[in-house]
Amino acid sequence: MNVKYLALFGTLSLAAVGCAGEFQPGDGNGPGPAGVDAGADIPTADAGGDSSDIGTAQALFENNVRPIIGSACNPGGACHASQDPAFITADPNSAYDTIGIHKDRLYTGFDPATSRLLINGEGGHYGAVYTPDDVITIEAWLAQEKLDAEAGGGGQVISALQEWSGCMNLDDWEAQNVASLWADKDAQNQGDCDACHNLGADGFMASNDSVRVFENITTNPSLMPSYFTQTIDGTSVVINRARLEKVGNQLSPHEAHGAFQVDGNAMEALQNFYDLTVSRKLAGQCQPPRF
Ligand code: HEC
Repeated sequence: MNVKYLALFGTLSLAAVGCAGEFQPGDGNGPGPAGVDAGADIPTADAGGDSSDIGTAQALFENNVRPIIGSACNPGGACHASQDPAFITADPNSAYDTIGIHKDRLYTGFDPATSRLLINGEGGHYGAVYTPDDVITIEAWLAQEKLDAEAGGGGQVISALQEWSGCMNLDDWEAQNVASLWADKDAQNQGDCDACHNLGADGFMASNDSVRVFENITTNPSLMPSYFTQTIDGTSVVINRARLEKVGNQLSPHEAHGAFQVDGNAMEALQNFYDLTVSRKLAGQCQPPRF
């Protein structure tokens, strides 16, 4: 917290209550505790079912994992059908491809210890809960995906978000002053964004430490959606305006969040940076993906 914040908190008791009271940022991407019990034994993959003609990891997902996620996702599997990241689909034929589009955010590197898909089922994320058997089943699928990826098979497709991480350029980011403008943006009655999101609480990072923000959002797919996300079909990257609109307009479940206007100088800087990044992409000037 910088000097400005100390001053702010000294004079505005509402802001102090905002951070010390019940409205506390969590430690990850959305509500709920981080960390997952990765100690369970991972059973050998046995696809079975009626999908024996497709790759084992895909069969494991379709037969075993998809029903678990569907029932954990309330109400009636409707969550994340359009809500970013939109990884749930009613069409079983496209279910595997749909979740794969979001692999960076849901299961980076197929690692169960950091997988939001697993962590968010521990009970702290809008009531989504997995049983211990569910966790073992999801881990078995991720283990198979990892084997396939190592063998050069599935999971090797570079997502639009991964590609974008290499197209983002630090000099452009600094020149547009994106980080500080968001850090200093005010959420009504609760202080500036960085008062609570300095370290990336709830998957949104806002800090005057411009380089740190750049490094975090370009290397951590859970933090990239602070500012950018993929379109529903996964083909391109857009500014994550929908998420900011929801929070700034205090739509459910963000009723207790301080209101803010999405548009303004911070959004303009973000838009300029976005345009510069698209230009780099079109000109073939991207670095390799950073995650
Ligand atoms: C007083 C602390 C505080 C301040 C100041 C604050 N936030 Fe938050 N923010 C939170 C908390 C707590 C959550 C999680 C609860 C929620 O989503 O409403 C959150 C969640 C978010 C999320 C993620 C919502 C999701 O999808 O789960 C975004 C995006 C966000 N804030 C943006 C901002 C922006 C932009 C500002 C500045 C204009 C800001 N916040 C200022 C406390 C704060």
